[in-house]
Amino acid sequence: MRRYPGAAYIVGEMFEELSNNPTARITMKKTVAIIGAEGKMGSAMACVIARAGYRTLISGHDYRDLLALVGRLPLLEAKIRMQVPQADMGIVIDPKEASWEADIIIPAVPYEAQAAVAQEIREFVTGKIVISVVNPMNQGFSDLLTPPMKSAAEELAELLPHSRIVKAFNTIFATDVKVPDSKDQVADVFVAGDDSEAVTQVMELVRDTGFNPVNAGNLSMSRTLESMMLLLMNIPRRNTCGSVTGWKVVQRSSLPGRPTPEKSTKFAARNIES
Ligand SMILES: NC(=O)c1ccc[n+]([C@@H]2O[C@H](COP(=O)([O-])OP(=O)(O)OC[C@H]3O[C@@H](n4cnc5c(N)ncnc54)[C@H](OP(=O)(O)O)[C@@H]3O)[C@@H](O)[C@H]2O)c1
Repeated sequence: MRRYPGAAYIVGEMFEELSNNPTARITMKKTVAIIGAEGKMGSAMACVIARAGYRTLISGHDYRDLLALVGRLPLLEAKIRMQVPQADMGIVIDPKEASWEADIIIPAVPYEAQAAVAQEIREFVTGKIVISVVNPMNQGFSDLLTPPMKSAAEELAELLPHSRIVKAFNTIFATDVKVPDSKDQVADVFVAGDDSEAVTQVMELVRDTGFNPVNAGNLSMSRTLESMMLLLMNIPRRNTCGSVTGWKVVQRSSLPGRPTPEKSTKFAARNIES
């Protein structure tokens, strides 16, 4: 059987914590692996996830890619450590090994690479949460490449039938991931998936990274979420609104002259009773 140094490290950490404080309740930090960590989205995600206190593994294109080994990933790690000195992170170049070690896997790769990455990590992600951040855009960002009744996230679920696929983080820009707060408004991050426990965990991750999680429903809702990014990208092209950063669901109570949610609930209850 192949041995993975990271697993031994985790067990070692547990023993150390127990021997230092036998009454301590071991709350294991979740490990998140980011595949394609050198890219715009992957590097931003790695930074905020490390800042949120998760053990973060950054993974490259291919473990045979010597450039990644000697250059890009260590450079990224150093950059993140400058911003997050306490980061608990490591480089695991091989996506298979990173997936094996992680609880949550984020393939931050282009749609065109999704199938290849899924094929590569498939046997290492059984039962695990895999977050789909992918937006299947065409080159001109004018349309989606997926068929009308299919999303990239649902395709990923077909490619990884034994994993728990959750759509999240796809409706925000990489440039905004590190600064979720825009003009005092925290952007919403929509979370969609068929496994409610996995959705809850990803909502927690979203909150920990500084965004506002919104449960968007089942994985099929990813079709809408992927279209939402397409729309968001096209809004500045056709409007004079300047750049946009994300979506925000406006709650009824924040509109002047509207009843508060409490009042509208009572109103609804009255209607049901009558
Ligand atoms: N950028 C955004 O604002 C944004 C926002 C939301 C969602 N997304 C989604 O996030 C994903 C990544 O976008 P991006 O803008 O970060 O693209 P990017 O800057 O081009 O980064 C893509 C990364 O994926 C790596 N990669 C490509 N094929 C791979 C493979 N087979 N195995 C492992 N790694 C591979 C690339 O490595 P090499 O350079 O070595 O090929 C690169 O590091 C896309 O699906 C996009 O739709 C992006």
